[in-house]
Amino acid sequence: MFTDTKRSFLSKNRDQKGFVLWLTGLSGSGKSTLAEILFEKISALGKKVERLDGDVLRGVFPNTGFSKEARDEHIKRVGFMASRLEHHGVIVVASFISPYRAARDFVRTLCGSFVEIYVRASLDECKRRDVKGLYEKAMAGQLKEFTGIDDPYEEPLNPEITVDTEHQTVEQSVQQIMDYLKSYLQD
Ligand SMILES: Nc1ncnc2c1ncn2[C@@H]1O[C@H](COP(=O)(O)OP(=O)(O)OP(=O)(O)O)[C@@H](O)[C@H]1O
Ligand SMILES: [Mg+2]
Repeated sequence: MFTDTKRSFLSKNRDQKGFVLWLTGLSGSGKSTLAEILFEKISALGKKVERLDGDVLRGVFPNTGFSKEARDEHIKRVGFMASRLEHHGVIVVASFISPYRAARDFVRTLCGSFVEIYVRASLDECKRRDVKGLYEKAMAGQLKEFTGIDDPYEEPLNPEITVDTEHQTVEQSVQQIMDYLKSYLQD
């Protein structure tokens, strides 16, 4: 026996179509900040949603390296996981620097609906924010293979969304993304 609340929750989710929101950008550009809020907002709509975040994944798999090969392998595996969740009707909010275009494009080919969000802030702004103190270490040569300092970041050429977090508030960036997602979220 289902209560009315349970019944309406189930019927909302029954035909939910999954999609993958892929947030890419420099360290400190705002990926995790936006992903967390998007997760809460989508969740509040009664949707099945999962978050995958670079720091969390690297915490679980601490031996993941930062060479191009290691980063590509990591992103492709995470992308595969995201595509499986999507296949089962889950909305996935993935936040990874994912600096290499080809790896992101590979993930796109795995997914049914892939929404690439370029979370853009200039390198100078990210250095100024230096949320984790990593830019200071990288610039002092204490951290190698740091994206933007001694490792490349390949900007998306044709992302579904670009949010300019250097000139927008967090709320404005979230709103821009939620506006884009309107048709994905209605049912
Ligand atoms: N419009 C905006 N959108 C997102 N973050 C913003 C915005 N404006 C300012 N910020 C600030 O930028 C910082 C972004 O840090 P955050 O940890 O989200 O970056 P990140 O991209 O996840 O970095 P990393 O790749 O190192 O995990 C936060 O302090 C946040 O408050
Ligand atoms: Mg982050």
